[in-house]
Amino acid sequence: MKCPGSITCTLKLNRIPSSKQRSRAAYPSCLYKMASSPDKAETSESFMNRMAECFNSGFVMIGVAIGSSTGLFETMAAIDEPKTSQEIADIAGLKERYVREWLAVMVTSKIVDMDFDKQTYLIPKHRAEVLTKFKGPENLSLAATTIPALCAVYDDIIECFKRSGPRGVPYSKYSAFMDYMGQLSAEKYQEKLPHFVKTNKEIHSLLESGITVVDIGCGHGMFVCTMAREFPNSQFYGVDFCDEYLQVARKEASKRALTNVTFEAHDVVKLPADWSSKFDYVTAIDTIHDQAYPDVVLKEVYKLVKPGGYFSMIDVNASSNIRENMDHPMGPCYYATSLMHCMSVSLYFENGMGLGAMWGKEKAKEMVEKVGFRCVQLEPQPDDLENYHALFEKPDSAK
Ligand SMILES: C[S@@+](CC[C@H](N)C(=O)[O-])C[C@H]1O[C@@H](n2cnc3c(N)ncnc32)[C@H](O)[C@@H]1O
Repeated sequence: MKCPGSITCTLKLNRIPSSKQRSRAAYPSCLYKMASSPDKAETSESFMNRMAECFNSGFVMIGVAIGSSTGLFETMAAIDEPKTSQEIADIAGLKERYVREWLAVMVTSKIVDMDFDKQTYLIPKHRAEVLTKFKGPENLSLAATTIPALCAVYDDIIECFKRSGPRGVPYSKYSAFMDYMGQLSAEKYQEKLPHFVKTNKEIHSLLESGITVVDIGCGHGMFVCTMAREFPNSQFYGVDFCDEYLQVARKEASKRALTNVTFEAHDVVKLPADWSSKFDYVTAIDTIHDQAYPDVVLKEVYKLVKPGGYFSMIDVNASSNIRENMDHPMGPCYYATSLMHCMSVSLYFENGMGLGAMWGKEKAKEMVEKVGFRCVQLEPQPDDLENYHALFEKPDSAK
């Protein structure tokens, strides 16, 4: 099986999508903006100003996260007339004193407007829309909740830095962050097929004709369920080692009355022996870089795929070389997310590799090819600015 016009892999390294492109990324596309850079002739004073801006922005985002978690942005977005803090607190069913202090953060951040004489507050529509659920995956306030969610392991990470400290942090410490990832996955995949499935004619027609597919590290299973609904002739499996996520996945499958999907609990380092060459197509979305033993997992994936079959890997659209990431619009955000989660969950396991979220496409391609796959295509995704999609083929001759 061949992908049209793609004998050699097209590795597009420098195409980091602009913030204007429509996104369903883990972090909203509106965040795809570079932090301000140093002046040409930076002084202590200009550096101090830049840091002061960053410092304040950190606290603004804590306030924004609180507005998301308490539902206060939704409450305020539904209000047409300016209201007092007591009125807002009553509508939201929250304590007035806390609401008033939060409003003060929002007012001084120039997010909420205040009539100082009447002591009333109103959020302008254009701001409310950026910060509320009404904008779906573009909802910036939901993204802001990742900061407190990741800071739940702040002390653990500090301990890990110490030579005598632990290797890493277990998944069990990340329930808030994983809830956030679940919500985003639902927003990305619950309703629509991703671009990489819609646009690849060969994969699309195989799925229509009826093939066997497994998604490894399927999480809440939204992608698998949508694929199963769209391609009723194909059989789908979702694998994850977290039972909690699989329960959500099974519930979703039964809600949609899907009969062509099975969710199974496995550690993807060792999958059932009778799964060798069982699958025409294997997918791994935002999963490989978190692995403790990605090399072992990739060998396992290779075993699963039938000769001539395909493997799609969706991972963070960055370079393996930090120099190339200097203009990445969200470089600090992804390296910090990696430090606080992706690298550290991998290092937690004995001899865990700790690739990190920014392992980059060059290293990813090298590691996947090392197990025997051939890279057919590697491209950024217009509907998912965070990620690239890489399609690999297992040679027909591999028996
Ligand atoms: C970042 S989440 C991505 C979930 C899903 N693919 C999505 O895009 O919504 C990574 C998932 O991989 C799972 N995972 C990580 N390592 C695994 C392993 N060794 N075996 C099975 N599942 C694993 C985690 O439990 C988690 O659900």
